[in-house]
Amino acid sequence: MSCFRFNGKSRKRSEENNDKNVDVIKRDDRTRPTSELLKVKSNVNSKKEDVSKDDQLSLDAKNLNLKVDVSKDGNGNDSNVQTFTFAELADATGNFRSDCFVGEGGFGKVYKGHIAKINQVVAIKQLDPNGVQGIREFVIEVMTLSKADHPNLVKLLGFCAEGAQRLLVYEYMPLGSLENHLYDLPPLRTPLDWNTRMSIAAGAARGLEYLHDKMDPSIIYRDLKCSNILLGEGYQPKLSDFGLAKVGPKGEQTHVSTRVMGTYGYCAPDYAMTGQLTFKSDMYSFGVFLLELITGRKAIDPEKEREEQNLVAWARPMFKDRRNFSKMIDPRLQGQYPVRGLYQALAIAAMCVQEQPALRPATSDVVIALNYLASQKYDSRKPPVRSSRRSPSQDVARRIDSEQTESDRLERD
Ligand SMILES: Nc1ncnc2c1ncn2[C@@H]1O[C@H](COP(=O)(O)OP(=O)(O)OP(=O)(O)O)[C@@H](O)[C@H]1O
Ligand SMILES: [Mg+2]
Repeated sequence: MSCFRFNGKSRKRSEENNDKNVDVIKRDDRTRPTSELLKVKSNVNSKKEDVSKDDQLSLDAKNLNLKVDVSKDGNGNDSNVQTFTFAELADATGNFRSDCFVGEGGFGKVYKGHIAKINQVVAIKQLDPNGVQGIREFVIEVMTLSKADHPNLVKLLGFCAEGAQRLLVYEYMPLGSLENHLYDLPPLRTPLDWNTRMSIAAGAARGLEYLHDKMDPSIIYRDLKCSNILLGEGYQPKLSDFGLAKVGPKGEQTHVSTRVMGTYGYCAPDYAMTGQLTFKSDMYSFGVFLLELITGRKAIDPEKEREEQNLVAWARPMFKDRRNFSKMIDPRLQGQYPVRGLYQALAIAAMCVQEQPALRPATSDVVIALNYLASQKYDSRKPPVRSSRRSPSQDVARRIDSEQTESDRLERD
């Protein structure tokens, strides 16, 4: 099921154009972003007059054959995304001082800062010209987020496009990424409890539903993973990093044909094999993320035994027998979870990571099921309440049972 060769910290790279060809990208191939950057740089230099920052974004978009419109949101209102000068962002971070540094990904370094003109604490991402991402991701990020407005999507406050500099300015997410709360915890850090995990899952599902069903045009995210789920006060989850996002299929179309992009371990096998991207590709990645949240295991963990390195490959045979479910829960929860809730959460995850995309659930169904699960607060001191009413998560669980029986039957036939 893996799409990419795994190599180091940065887990993705960008795409050259809207290729029809399916081409599995190797992560250590860094030739394209650099040449793309040079192309834009030389364009900038060839312009005699000074290009304003908005114009620079349009110029970038034009060079990439992308239509850009950041002045209005999806409803025709003026978007809140504004331009900042490089001097303002340097000022906000004490000239990108090392103690303002919060992390680094494929795009470049991220700094915490305070922008005086808006009096706000922000996160500033600076494009690394030698990194694995480039101007395309920058433009798509600005285009996507300037039209989006949802409590479960990170807010883009503005950007800077000056000369060769490309920077993105976001609301600062004080608790960092989910990845930092799930893995390699310092000894005294309390692991996330069951209720928090379920509310993170439900919030992330609502963010995804907004992209799939509420935005116009609808968006396929393509980069859902724990490191891209940022956490605000009260662990409110927000999806981030939209550089790989694609406009979804329109009208009669069932998919978008594109070069295979994404992150190793999260990429749907059907998309990896055919290059046909659908909303169900995101659903698969969502299932992997949900499994990580439940099991505390990484999507890919090279440090584990061979047969346990790939989370989905490890989990799939376990789904077949409910007696395995208690072996799948994150041991750091130390037994503090509701047995029924665990069963339902695993049933949703199992449904999302099904091999056949048609059998994966609709985003809106996952939202209903997870909202319900998140509303059922677990309290270790209280015995579980037995409800005679069937819950939405049970409905999803029942569907997976019957669909799995059906797919087992098809496999046998
Ligand atoms: N808005 C933000 N507020 C606070 N911290 C952030 C914000 N955006 C990113 N970060 C932090 O910066 C670090 C790097 O993020 P970034 O998205 O660049 O890389 P990544 O998600 O780790 O990898 P990838 O390039 O594959 O997306 C992460 O640890 C994240 O916690
Ligand atoms: Mg990220």
